[in-house]
Amino acid sequence: MTSTEPHYGDFLRLQALLSLQRELPDVHDAHFFFTVHQAYELQFKIILYELDAAVVAVRGDDIPRAVYCLRRVRAMEDALVAQVGTLETISPGSFAVLRRTLGGSSGLQSVQFREIEFLSGQKDPGYLDRLRMSEAERIRLERRLTEPSLWDEFQRLLRRLGDPDLVELYRAEIPDNGLARLAEAMVDHDEGFGLWRVRHVAMVERVIGRRPGTGGSAGVAYLQSTVERRFFPELWAVRTLL
Ligand code: HEM
Repeated sequence: MTSTEPHYGDFLRLQALLSLQRELPDVHDAHFFFTVHQAYELQFKIILYELDAAVVAVRGDDIPRAVYCLRRVRAMEDALVAQVGTLETISPGSFAVLRRTLGGSSGLQSVQFREIEFLSGQKDPGYLDRLRMSEAERIRLERRLTEPSLWDEFQRLLRRLGDPDLVELYRAEIPDNGLARLAEAMVDHDEGFGLWRVRHVAMVERVIGRRPGTGGSAGVAYLQSTVERRFFPELWAVRTLL
């Protein structure tokens, strides 16, 4: 049936989207491996959209909106963690063949992944030199480095509220205040992202053992060094003081 009304495929621009997996090496698992990476990048895009909205909401003192957005960020992170299991259907033998087609490309070079880190508050300018990326990506990452992060906006909010004592805030048995809910929604995000790091390194060890990564790092040893990273260390430390 033809009609001038946009249909499902038009609406989602599926012709363009589903044509992006064509140029693949002749290895059975390549289709899955590349498409899953593309799906991850789309999901990173959703997380960035919600984090951007959360930052704007905190800046505007709209705590319920910030918490609403962060709830979705954590739900997306849970989905990303579960998705790692699908990668374990690639056998070590198959990946050994597949990796010969990857050259020096690696998830290490995901600019959106660094954008999530920078926008949350964990800014490492060193990545601007270390990552291979397009000019457009470089401009985006530089902007993330200079713009206020979620942590910056949270601290500004605290100042506007007269610098409440976080330890006192966390003493409440049943937290009933907006600021406490926001702080916990931020910790939910921090924890969700950290769980992805833990799940990813377990999968990597299963697939490539102790081989170095295609991105040039030591592989598992490098990834293990990242699992302790926290976006909001102060919000974790406060629990120790109660
Ligand atoms: C069989 C599948 C996979 C293997 C064996 C694998 C392996 C690795 C290795 C060894 C590294 C360390 C960097 C390097 O390459 O030297 C790495 C980093 C990374 N990978 Fe994967 N990976 C896989 C799938 C994925 C997928 C589907 C994503 C989703 C985008 C992803 C995202 C990342 C990210 C973001 C990093 C950087 C982590 C950081 O620097 O904290 N990986 N991966």
